[in-house]
Order: sequence, then structure tokens, then C-alpha cells
Amino acid sequence: MAFNNEQFKEIMAEFTIDSERLQEIAASFRQDLQLGLRDVSLSSMRMLKSYVGLPSGNEKGEYIALDFGGTNVRVSKIRLDGNGKYEILKRVGRPLIVPGKYDYICKDATAEQMFDFIAGLIDEAIDGDRETKYYLGHTFSFPSTQTDLNNARLIIWTKEFATQGVEGEVANDLLLAALKRRGANNVEPVAVLNDTVAVLLSAAYKTPDIYIGSIYATGHNTCYLEPSIHDPNCFGSGGMILNLECGNFMKLMPNRFDKEYDEGSEKPGEQRFEKMVSGRYMGELLGMAIAELLGEKGKKYGLTSIDMSNIVLDESPNLFKASDILMAKIGRELDVEDVKKVRELVKAIIIRSARLAAASFVAIVWQRAGSGKIVKQHVAVDGSVYEKMPLAKENIVKAMGELLGDDADKVDTILDNGGSGLGAAIAAAMAVEK
Ligand code: BGC
Repeated sequence: MAFNNEQFKEIMAEFTIDSERLQEIAASFRQDLQLGLRDVSLSSMRMLKSYVGLPSGNEKGEYIALDFGGTNVRVSKIRLDGNGKYEILKRVGRPLIVPGKYDYICKDATAEQMFDFIAGLIDEAIDGDRETKYYLGHTFSFPSTQTDLNNARLIIWTKEFATQGVEGEVANDLLLAALKRRGANNVEPVAVLNDTVAVLLSAAYKTPDIYIGSIYATGHNTCYLEPSIHDPNCFGSGGMILNLECGNFMKLMPNRFDKEYDEGSEKPGEQRFEKMVSGRYMGELLGMAIAELLGEKGKKYGLTSIDMSNIVLDESPNLFKASDILMAKIGRELDVEDVKKVRELVKAIIIRSARLAAASFVAIVWQRAGSGKIVKQHVAVDGSVYEKMPLAKENIVKAMGELLGDDADKVDTILDNGGSGLGAAIAAAMAVEK
């Protein structure tokens, strides 16, 4: 069965954001940001305090960095040498889920099981040492309310995590209890931070002119340095970094696929922006659109963002690789004209995602500039979609250019690879050195 052309065009239009709409989205994001700065309950974003500002770049010492924010948990031992220099002395990592073996992120898993697993990894990173005193920075990449740099209470799971007994709890209390159960009393968590904040700290440690940090991966979120917030409990300089939790930004128009996906998701009504932007969801949206074109509405094919990357990367005239991927996932052979259409659809979904991310970056740049001039700056971004997904980065650049016009050359994006780990070590150093 060949795709219906009209239906295909209509679906493509659903996933297209023209320049005018892009401006509206950026303006609406900025407005939501301004509302939130006045009174956070007025914003659809959580705009969470991090109790940290910019590092000096001269933080020093050896720290343990726990990076917990996706299915892979990583623990590193990092030595900060100051002057923006550092060395990773050891790194261990393991997934929280191995299908058929264990699963610490499903509804049946408990907080204790999850944190015992994490404590085990920390123990591995310190080689079971019970003598040396270790300070630990914890990048915990889920929306959490902080009362200081070391206290973050999980508001709600995102990224389809469902482990019981963690929502409403203080992440580092659960971690500390697990470390104690293991007898690792010499490891002391001293800082907890969102991964966006970690990326901002990590990038700012090495490079000047960075005020915005973002993750563009399984999940999506952005933070920025807000100069107007001062708090005696805040470490670092320049004000306080606000973790926007902009994955929850709602003041935009989801299409019918976004709506349908959201309704069937683990947390309906939550993270609407993230469900349109991040890698966790793009494959699902693509699958829904293909199912509609094939007259199989409701069928799930398990397409992922990696499949999408591979489909785009196949530039051969017969699209053999793309056809094979689709055959394996959809369970039927599509004729080459339809494979071409799927490839167009994949591109449209990636480009939409990149344009939305760009709109949010520019909105923050505008907000920071206020009525003054936009200063020269880099937006630090980490994450597999930004780093590896074809079309993502170039479309962020293009969309930022459309939005910034004459100021386009003042703002660029830079990759901060591994910032989640380094940022945790920097935050720990900032907490300990003060
Ligand atoms: C979480 C954020 C996190 C982002 C990227 C989102 O689902 O809510 O806290 O920064 O994923 O990991």
C-alpha cells in the first residue's frame, strides 16, 4: 500500500514550524520566563533555584562525581587542577535497566534497590576504599526543589522513570542512607545539581562568556544564570543559576500526535515541551505518524532516535539501509517512494525539535539582555541529540540566526561533552572550598 500523498503532506505540515511561528514561540517562552521571575506559580516552567552561581575556574581538589539522570548511571573520580584544568582519574558506569536481568526504573522497583545499586557503583569508583574522605557531587537530573546546594527533593519523575518511593524524597538522603548500608561512611555528598546546571558549571569553568546550559538528549532542559537573584546560601558568583525545567513549558501548540502521545504516556499533561523536543520521544512520534500513513493507527513500532539518525544518514538513491531499518521495525517492506517520504518525515521531526530548542535559547538570551545589548556568549549544550543526531545542531544554528537577526554572530552553541560529571565535581569543590 502506498502512502496517501495528501495525508502525508498534512502530517508534514503538522511537524513544520515556519519563521513567524518560531518568533511567536520564542516570545511566548520569554514571557513565561518573565512571569515566573515575578511569581513562579504564573509560569508553566518550574524555574528551580540551584543555590549556585558561576565557578571561579580555580576550584581544586579530588572529588567523586555521580551522574544520575538517564538509564546509564556514571560515577567518576575527578581531580580539579584550577585554571579550567582537570583530569578524570577513574570512571565507572552501568545501566539501571538490563532487559531480562534487572530493572530499577520500573514501577516495581524501590528507592532502596535503586540507590543500593548506585552506592555499589560509587564503591567501585573508590575501589572499596574506606579510609580516604571523599566529597561527592551528585548530578540528579530530574525536577527537584532545592533548599540549599545539598538538598534537592524530587518533585516528579520524568523520562518515563517510575521507581517507587523516590518522588517527594530528598535525593541525597536516599543516597546517604544507601552509602551507609554499604559501610561507605567516608563518602559524603555535599552538592546536588541538575545536569543543565552541571553543564553550565563545567563549560564556565573552562571558557568565559557562558550563562546558559542545556541538555539535548533523552531529556531536554535548560538553565541560565539569573543575575537578580542573591541568596546568602548561594555559592559562586554572578547571581543564581535557575534550572528552568523548561521541558514542562506548556504555552505552545502541540499537534495531534503530541497530544495523543502525551495522553498515553507515564505522566500525561507533564513535560509537553520535552515530549516534542527530546530524543526519548522523537521515535515514538515518528512511529505514530507512520502508523497513520499505513492505516495501522495505534500500532507501536519501537522506532528510536538512533533509527532516525540512521535513516537520515542513508543518502543512497535506493535507501537500502533506511528500508532495512523500517522493514525490521514495521514488519513490512515499503516501496522506495514511501521510504523517501518517511525520511522526509524523520527530518521534519528532528528539525522541529531543533527549532523549538533554539527558540528557548534565544528567549533566554533576550531575557538576560533585557533592554540592553545582547552580549557575546556561548550557549553550552551537552547530549546525544545535539552531538550526534544529523540536522539537530545545524538547525539550531539556523533557527537562532532567524530569531537573532543582526545579533546572530554574538551567540553560538558549543558542545560541553561530559559536563554532567565535571560539573558535579566543580559544585562539590565550590561547596567544600567556601
Ligand atoms: C528533567 C530535567 C533534566 C532533563 C535532561 C528532564 O526530563 O526533568 O531535570 O535536566 O530531563 O536530562
